[in-house]
Amino acid sequence: MHDPADRPPVSAPDTRSDTITVRGGVPVEGHIAIRGSKNALPKAMVAALLTVEPCRLTNIAELTDIDVVDELIRIAGGSVERHPDSLTITAHSFTALGEHDVMRLHAASRIPVLTTAVSLHRTGHAVVAAPGGCSIGPRPVDFHLNVLRSFGAHDIHRDDVIELTAEHMRGARIELPFPSVGATEQFLFAAVLAEGDSELANAAIEPEILDLISVLQKMGALISVEPNRTIRVTGVGELGGFEHRVIGDRLEAASWASLALATGGTITVQGVQQQELATFLNVYRRAGGDFTINADGDTISFRRERRMLRPLALETDVHPGFMTDWQSPFVTALTQADGVSVIHETVYEDRLGYTDALRSLGAQIQVFTECLGPTRCRFGAANHRHSAVVVGPTRLHGAELVVPDLRAGFSYVIAAAAAEGESLIHGVDLLDRGYADFRSKLSSVGVDHR
Ligand code: EPZ
Repeated sequence: MHDPADRPPVSAPDTRSDTITVRGGVPVEGHIAIRGSKNALPKAMVAALLTVEPCRLTNIAELTDIDVVDELIRIAGGSVERHPDSLTITAHSFTALGEHDVMRLHAASRIPVLTTAVSLHRTGHAVVAAPGGCSIGPRPVDFHLNVLRSFGAHDIHRDDVIELTAEHMRGARIELPFPSVGATEQFLFAAVLAEGDSELANAAIEPEILDLISVLQKMGALISVEPNRTIRVTGVGELGGFEHRVIGDRLEAASWASLALATGGTITVQGVQQQELATFLNVYRRAGGDFTINADGDTISFRRERRMLRPLALETDVHPGFMTDWQSPFVTALTQADGVSVIHETVYEDRLGYTDALRSLGAQIQVFTECLGPTRCRFGAANHRHSAVVVGPTRLHGAELVVPDLRAGFSYVIAAAAAEGESLIHGVDLLDRGYADFRSKLSSVGVDHR
């Protein structure tokens, strides 16, 4: 068992502390086993704080966000028993986190904000760090605050924290301005123990959200998802413990698939279900990639079918659209397509920053503020650089790069693996946030790195 006491306190990642050298130009070949989803597992850990009974999670991956929630739970008075493939949480008591701990944990992860509704239920009090920016946009929490106010919370903004209080949480009918994953999760954590019925219109229904709903249902919650993406909840008096195997990480699976596409290799990915990748698989095949799927649908061999990849018009969207987290790794592979691809990122305002680095390796990419896709999105009139045109194929050469965020970082590794020569990539420790055992996986598919 991992003794939590011997884990150093989490802190904001030091983005230049870890450098790898990648020698590219060789098609990858290998097998990757993928464990629990980075965007589902920490939320299931937060759900465990809604009960005093033990909650066990399996299919655990070693990820930074897990350590953040582990530390948060221990500070709040709960216990976390960790094993290589499972963890058990018992939140027999819960004390609201103080400002210092909230600020420190928030600097390392987006997850702590999701414990706000839990803290209000268990203590009537919560502190939220004012939103920090990151390399894909300002990451505001206004949707979360509006959800909590609807349940009866009062908030006071003081310097760089927001203090919330709630005597009693009553059911609410809410409509989100945008189907935000985090705000939907905040709604679920508030509604399941609130008095009476609640409703969330324009909710996010990503597989990770449905996995969280499965966890809450196991705990005794009453939750229904309507065909029009409205979620309805009837509050209950208390929730019980659960045992749950977390869904595989479909974002990691698509990243490794994009590496195979960009280098002309083959990577077999085990641990993610076909239906969670359905849209990605269709786009992968349209681009000239192909795949073989086993009978259980949990093992997919990705390969580049045609000698030249086909260019695409690609627009990201909420589920079941093409996931924004698939965008940067996949677009990196499109630098090898024979023709002009057009990309329209409609979920985040600033998620094309990585293209500057790809240009330094020789890619031909131009970024635009216009909506270059069928959807008029929120960013078109706001002057955000959220569309791109990629001209291919281009021969990529080695360069020196600094990782700005998780998915862009993987894109740099893809570009370096597809490039002729050596690339120096600083700040790869950021990749540990979403790609467990990243370096050993890189070696297992034959990428020459040190
Ligand atoms: C989750 O982030 C994921 N992170 C993201 O994955 C993912 O890209 C995103 O959902 C969209 O699917 C985790 O689950 C930990 P949002 P989240 O709330 O919940 C705006 C990765 O690489 N917004 O759906 O923070 C926001 O700025 C990460 O794994 C507000 O304006 O995303 C964005 O434009 C990156 N106000 C849009 O909504 C708010 O209060 C979608 O954000 C909240 C969000």
